[in-house]
Amino acid sequence: MGTDGIGSAVGRKPVLRVLSGERQKVPPVWLMRQAGRYLPEYRAVREKAGGFLDLCFNPELAAEVTLQPVRRFGFDAAILFSDILVVPLALGRKVEFLAGEGPKLEPLTDSAGMASLHDNLDTNVVAPVYETVRRVRKALDDRTALIGFCGAPWTVATYMVAGGGTPDQAPARMLAYRQPKLFGMLIDRLVQVSIEYLSTQLKFGAECVQVFDTWAGVLPPDEFERWCIQPTRAIVDGLRAQVPGAKVIGFPRGAGSKLTRYVDATGVDAVGLDWTADLDFVRAQVQSKKPVQGNVDPLALLAGGAALDRAVDQVRDALGAGPHIFNLGHGILPETPIAHVEQMLKRVRS
Ligand code: CP3
Repeated sequence: MGTDGIGSAVGRKPVLRVLSGERQKVPPVWLMRQAGRYLPEYRAVREKAGGFLDLCFNPELAAEVTLQPVRRFGFDAAILFSDILVVPLALGRKVEFLAGEGPKLEPLTDSAGMASLHDNLDTNVVAPVYETVRRVRKALDDRTALIGFCGAPWTVATYMVAGGGTPDQAPARMLAYRQPKLFGMLIDRLVQVSIEYLSTQLKFGAECVQVFDTWAGVLPPDEFERWCIQPTRAIVDGLRAQVPGAKVIGFPRGAGSKLTRYVDATGVDAVGLDWTADLDFVRAQVQSKKPVQGNVDPLALLAGGAALDRAVDQVRDALGAGPHIFNLGHGILPETPIAHVEQMLKRVRS
């Protein structure tokens, strides 16, 4: 495994070929949140597991739900089934997922909260995640890539500070303005443990990783530089020091025109586009430098019919001439009909 696993498999795996800068005639495709509640087979396993976190920490069942969408749709990549909030949990914070309410954490707002964090990830918490990676990789064929992931420090910090999701993550933005030193310490800790977390996923069989910066879009330019770009750059550098040649996809949702700075400054191999990205701008200013991934609106997939066909064609027309991994612009919605996913795949692959 390790770097050997990365190097030797690139040859036949379309996702990894695109990450190396090579256009594929038919773009490889996977979907963010492809394992999830829109699949009856996921709901069945989820019920058996108990809570969402119980499923994340059960390697047998987590591997099973990771593989379900690959089996059903023949996606070109599997993405580790877990959650970005496993990291705060492994740093010693309380994290819960309450049915229908999203995540709840104990808010971290002061130096006492900061002092409560472990220096490193609790091995007992993350060991089952690595075991899931090992099992999934063993089960995949030689065309399907395994993607590991973590949340970007900024996005993870927004949940840690607020204690959950908020409309615009104002609590973390306020803490960063009022106590930049304290907030910087939190970001630095997340950078360090994310390097360890991702490098271990790669050692257990992940072939590339995605860094989810779901809340990048709420930051003004200077703060975007400080809390999104700099930590992402530090993770990419630190990861490549541990695992030479490690492949990284960045997903700075809502970055807009700051995407160019993001690809220039972070060192990521490819950038994930959210559904609002201007595709003429992306083709000229982003895809000319780095492969791109995305970006059909998850609501167009939910709508189906002619709106979906049009959305697929627009993405393929705009991005198909360069290195491109087909995906949504954010996670698939639980209400999405399976027939719509089939319709989209048929069109992408035709
Ligand atoms: O993409 C994948 O299929 C891999 C697995 C994955 C999950 N979450 C599974 C999940 C990944 C990569 C994530 C990332 C994640 N988690 C992010 C960043 C990307 C994004 O989607 O914005 C964020 C912000 C979280 C935090 C999180 N986890 C929230 C806000 C929620 C509740 C909202 C929701 O959609 O239910 C979760 C729960 C969650 N994570 C589910 C899944 C499949 C649903 C749990 C269930 O009820 O079964």
